[in-house]
Amino acid sequence: MPNITVNLPQNSYKIAISPGSLAQLGSQMKQLAIGDKVLVISNPEIFNHYGETCLKSLELAGFETCTHLIPAGEEYKTPQSIQQVYDTALANHLERSSTFVALGGGVIGDMTGFAAATWLRGVNFVQVPTSLLAIVDASVGGKTGVNHPQGKNLIGAFYQPKLVAIDPTLLQTLPPREFRAGMAEVIKYGIIWDEDLFTKLENCDRLDSLEYLSDELLEIIITRSCQAKAEVVSQDEKEAGLRAILNYGHTIGHAVESLTNYQQFVHGEAVAIGMVAAGKIAVEMGLWTEEKAKRQDALIAKTGLPTDIPSELAMEDILSTIKSDKKVKAGKVRFILPTTIGEVIISDQVTPEIITSALK
Ligand code: GLY
Repeated sequence: MPNITVNLPQNSYKIAISPGSLAQLGSQMKQLAIGDKVLVISNPEIFNHYGETCLKSLELAGFETCTHLIPAGEEYKTPQSIQQVYDTALANHLERSSTFVALGGGVIGDMTGFAAATWLRGVNFVQVPTSLLAIVDASVGGKTGVNHPQGKNLIGAFYQPKLVAIDPTLLQTLPPREFRAGMAEVIKYGIIWDEDLFTKLENCDRLDSLEYLSDELLEIIITRSCQAKAEVVSQDEKEAGLRAILNYGHTIGHAVESLTNYQQFVHGEAVAIGMVAAGKIAVEMGLWTEEKAKRQDALIAKTGLPTDIPSELAMEDILSTIKSDKKVKAGKVRFILPTTIGEVIISDQVTPEIITSALK
């Protein structure tokens, strides 16, 4: 599998994709010219599966290792958990030249990155993503952070890793629901950036479980998604403009997640519902054809992802939650809307009337 580069004005880095590569993490990291101490941050379940391979590989390459485990779940994505990471870093004498390794999904990656950005004003950071969502989205691009009681990811920093080391074989232990949630972000890249990826997914009989994907298709899914993310982030590291397109499906998706108290849907499922809604809005505004929207919705349904906003959610609650989204700019809600498969625009012209009419 090819290496991909995230090209940035400072601190460009590689996304290295290779099956079985966790056992080579130490030698991959040796090439980064970093210090000898490594703090591996994970959750107990992931660490149980992959901790030993990870630590052995680092130690064989000459790194001195220590670990810090954070219980799984969004409820631990807090400043208090970061404080405990600092305690471990202090107890183990982690230095400026040391490295924090995130071995886990999006929550572990975001927290490890934030701890790395702030400990000693910034230490090295390596992402080893273990979920599909983290592989294709969260581990690339340097968005790090924790939640505030009033909202998700309200505290954070842009802080780029030195390396994203992807071992697709780690997906074998991923629960099927989490696999499908990651596929929502893959479909997103097809709509916003890569028509060919979209068509390849359309041509598959089943996408609702990893077992139906050939190794070749999994390689395509991972490399094309990471390529899309790398290209967008390389052009707009800190979301001054273009990077907002990565939020396709997220405006209504976040509202649905929030109004169902983060209990009913995992993030990718809410994004799937949000993409269907954004497609309807684009059709309502005459930007997209009904035929293309149907193709998108059929692909989402084939992946076993939800497509409908729960009927018990009231339209006025959806509209008011959208208005309080952190991506609102100058009081205007910005929607990412498809104009064809593989291209989107950023629009602040979506009125509550259009949303109501499109989603009725
Ligand atoms: N997940 C959206 C972004 O990284 O910008």
